[in-house]
Amino acid sequence: MDVCLKAEANVYTNLFSLFSCLVFSIVPLKGNRQMLSLVVQTLLLSFGIVLSYEINTYNPDYGVYIGDLSSPETDIAGQVFIVNATTLQIFNLTFTPTQQDLYFWLDDKESPTKEGIKAHTYEYGITPLGPFSEENDRVVVHVPEKHRIDEFKSFSIYSFKSDKNFGSLVLPENVKIPKSVALNSEFTGKRYKLRSGPLYVIDRRTIKVYGFTFEGNKAPKTYFYAGRGASVSYSSGVKVAIRGKDEKEISEISENYRGGKDIILELPENYDIFHIDWISVYCYKYRVNFGSVLVPTDDTLANLPPYVPSFKKNSDEKPMTHGVLKGSAERRNFTFQLGDIEHIKNYNGNLRSPKYVWHVNSVMSPDLYLVRNVTYNFNVEGGREKIIPEFYNPLYIGDDEEGGYLELSQNEVEKVTVYSPEPVESQTGPLCIWIQNKDKAADEQDAYLDCDGWPDDVHSFAFTPNETTPSVLYYNSGNNFNMGGRIFIVDELPEDIADSAEVPYNREKWHTLALSRQRADKVNGGKATLAAAFMIILTIALA
Ligand SMILES: *[C@@H]1O[C@H](CO)[C@@H](O)[C@H](O)[C@H]1NC(C)=O
Ligand SMILES: *[C@@H]1O[C@H](CO)[C@@H](O)[C@H](O)[C@H]1NC(C)=O
Ligand SMILES: *[C@@H]1O[C@H](CO)[C@@H](O)[C@H](O)[C@H]1NC(C)=O
Ligand SMILES: *[C@@H]1O[C@H](CO)[C@@H](O)[C@H](O)[C@H]1NC(C)=O
Ligand SMILES: *[C@@H]1O[C@H](CO)[C@@H](O)[C@H](O)[C@H]1NC(C)=O
Repeated sequence: MDVCLKAEANVYTNLFSLFSCLVFSIVPLKGNRQMLSLVVQTLLLSFGIVLSYEINTYNPDYGVYIGDLSSPETDIAGQVFIVNATTLQIFNLTFTPTQQDLYFWLDDKESPTKEGIKAHTYEYGITPLGPFSEENDRVVVHVPEKHRIDEFKSFSIYSFKSDKNFGSLVLPENVKIPKSVALNSEFTGKRYKLRSGPLYVIDRRTIKVYGFTFEGNKAPKTYFYAGRGASVSYSSGVKVAIRGKDEKEISEISENYRGGKDIILELPENYDIFHIDWISVYCYKYRVNFGSVLVPTDDTLANLPPYVPSFKKNSDEKPMTHGVLKGSAERRNFTFQLGDIEHIKNYNGNLRSPKYVWHVNSVMSPDLYLVRNVTYNFNVEGGREKIIPEFYNPLYIGDDEEGGYLELSQNEVEKVTVYSPEPVESQTGPLCIWIQNKDKAADEQDAYLDCDGWPDDVHSFAFTPNETTPSVLYYNSGNNFNMGGRIFIVDELPEDIADSAEVPYNREKWHTLALSRQRADKVNGGKATLAAAFMIILTIALA
């Protein structure tokens, strides 16, 4: 009864758990219990009793509930659960982004402040949040590296620029954090050298087996097998997948495992660790248990992280290929302009890409190879009109992959080293954009360059990597995320990597636009407003 209360009671409201626990205590085996749980739940529901979650209580399906993300002013809602020390998940999130700079935010104050940090998602990385697909009722949120969820007091959706809270919750005192569990049991057997180190239960459906040893190449038709009941039997078990090997279907173990590597078992949905009694290395052909471990029946697993399905990368997606520009003796100047990214994923494979990325000497976000002790000249033509975020792009070189330096909180800025001249916001220049030539004639190029500014309105800075410069850096925009690419700092340029072809360009359009703006300025007298108006027109024209 005591165990029952600890392990299963927290699942539902107290009334419900008390009731169900009473029932469960009489029913011995786990599979039946789950069915009963469903029956009881349905019964309660039909009496109109709504099941809600209790703050700081554990739910084996979702994790520890820490509250609703809600706000009286917005229609944001969602139930937030802790998966483990570094992961949260939100269910039934209703969120329509109303502005461009909203983030999931963790703060050590009870409501979000500029001192907090961004929490990232698979969908958007650390970039501003966009809409989440309605098909997916779960949003998984990761705490940044080197942090734990219990360091923070609040979780919210926050606008960094306007310092506004769009919906938040305060983490409970002494928050409980689900934990993976190491078991004392190991696989051993008399046949085919079956042995292993301890088992580590990562979450309800994921088990790591350290140092698995088994002559799978000799054993007849053998599988990992998990099931219910007091002893291993053919009829009460199911086959268990090995991660990496059984992605599509479960095949027999045919490899000779020599103990040099760990394997991960993935339990099927209805046979998670709470619903099985044993895991066996089982010979299907002759119905022989080569060796098995029993799942503990005490409360060892009472606080296990819930299972979170991983995102399967779509195998149809072509990996992004990067151009290459080597900083040879003939190429000491790099000019950074904007250009489309339409058909391409960003670096992290994230779903969303910025509207524009840096094009360097006409090549879309290439890898740059720069030689130590050589001075290079970086020309910046990414726009300096703060009114339109897309067209305000200070260039900087840093050790942060995603960029967006000016969008980082103090806490985040401290983790980044900038290698280009500071302040970052001073490295801006006129706006030049590569535009796809949609209805081009046969003799025309695929893309042409459009510039807004003055011919003598240039901005550049020098960069000289030296002995102490790290071997991988990134060029990025200070104002927008994921616009950049890698810089490899080398002692000698690689010979086996080919340079991309640069597209020659001239700036005819530059003059036209500058003149038209000059004319407009004369009429209206407001340079800044007109520049903005021009840019708005350009945005509409390009959209
Ligand atoms: C999300 O909403 C659906 C439909 O209302 C409901 O069945 C489900 O239990 C909710 N999820 C959570 C975690 O409460
Ligand atoms: C926490 O859970 C997530 C999702 O299952 C997983 O990717 C991550 O590795 C876990 N972290 C730890 C520290 O176990
Ligand atoms: C780089 O640009 C400068 C002017 O900014 C020019 O003097 C120099 O010749 C250029 N170097 C190369 C290698 O093109
Ligand atoms: C190397 O470059 C850094 C700036 O990135 C500078 O602070 C340092 O003094 C340089 N070291 C040498 C040996 O020139
Ligand atoms: C760069 O210069 C330093 C001395 O200033 C020298 O020790 C080092 O070998 C040079 N590296 C390369 C790749 O030329």
